Amino acid sequence: MNNFTYCNPVQIIFGKGSISELSDLISPDEKVMITYGGGSIKRNGVYDQVMDALKNHVVVEYGGIEPNPRFETLMQAVEKARREEIDFLLAVGGGSVVDGTKFIAAAIPFEPGNEWHILSKRAEIEDAIPFGCVLTLPATGSEMNPTAVISREETAEKLVFSSPLVYPQFSILDPEATYTLPERQTVNGIVDTFVHITEQYLTFPTGAALQDRQAEGLILALLDEGPKALQSPRNYTVRANLMWISTQALNGLIGCGVPGDWATHMIGHELTALYGIDHARTLAVVLPALLRHQKDRKADKLTQYAERVWNIREGSRDERIEAGIAKTENCFHSLGVPTRLSDYSIGAEAADAVAERIRKRGASFGEHGDIGPKEIAEILKLAM
Ligand code: NZQ
Ligand code: ZN
Repeated sequence: MNNFTYCNPVQIIFGKGSISELSDLISPDEKVMITYGGGSIKRNGVYDQVMDALKNHVVVEYGGIEPNPRFETLMQAVEKARREEIDFLLAVGGGSVVDGTKFIAAAIPFEPGNEWHILSKRAEIEDAIPFGCVLTLPATGSEMNPTAVISREETAEKLVFSSPLVYPQFSILDPEATYTLPERQTVNGIVDTFVHITEQYLTFPTGAALQDRQAEGLILALLDEGPKALQSPRNYTVRANLMWISTQALNGLIGCGVPGDWATHMIGHELTALYGIDHARTLAVVLPALLRHQKDRKADKLTQYAERVWNIREGSRDERIEAGIAKTENCFHSLGVPTRLSDYSIGAEAADAVAERIRKRGASFGEHGDIGPKEIAEILKLAM
């Protein structure tokens, strides 16, 4: 097992009715700015619950954060927060609102005019406004991690930043807030969660027996519960399970002492930036192709995955690995999620376009750091 340090400071408040606890979680002396998306929280009653809990607080609002939150939009929120001299931010929504709020929190005290450097140069953040979160879409794990993914419309970029200063102080996870998710978003959440787990599990063995079993347990629970949410969107137990599984998938715990891959995510971000495909759907396209491309280097873990997750015990090692990858693809298909670029009418030009962007950035990914532009082009050609 590799060395690691682990500290996750996010307080989780989980369960039915937990939004009402906001009144005790934020000091009444603090001026709060609530951030939210395109209005789902106004239609499903979450906004009313939040406002009711904060009726004794001074509250201003910033709505309109879009999926794949944009720098241009977020900077308007930063300016409003600076003008209003906000003390605390409260993100109410899905991963995009939470990520956007992390950026707002870091950008408010950052050097005016250079806020994009937080992403483009990974400039060090020395300060951030404290914030909390009311989650309405289980998928990204953003509610319990220190990472955000922000897009810039002007340059069609989608970049990541991370800082211990942007862990939420608390996250409220009320499964009832997810009852109104459209099926597409529930499915996206399942697929995103699935790939967060595999990016930390399908690498190479480090003797981390517990982390392997945790990852396998999360996948098996996800495979059990995910389809039930599509059948019974208002089943509390199912929604509660999905919410806790997706938080656990990307709160750092299963990544302790093991390598991370993340190439699927980094390639996927480029596909969203260039073609506007939903985050999770890019992952469903890239993951099977990447696993096939990397099957020799990942052979030990892919064999273990085939056996322990999909109960595949027959055939040669190569056949078992391929059968495990095919099961993964079928799982995405069973959720109605395509796994080929051609399903989005995207041709071979995408392979070169993405590879060229990565080449310009001088980046390479994967658990060995050797998935560079050439390999990325090959992977995307396999995903045609
Ligand atoms: O904007 P509103 O009106 O709220 O509607 C949203 C949005 O249209 C809707 N929605 C959310 N909760 C709802 C609801 N509709 C009805 N009922 C509810 N309870 O769902 C739509 C999608 O929301 P979004 O927040 O964009 O989805 P998601 O949570 O999947 O977040 C995706 C973003 O997170 C980033 C992705 O790249 C993408 O930008 N990621 C962040 C990560 C992190 N911070 O660690 C890791 C992930 O890998 C991912 O990259
Ligand atoms: Zn993701």
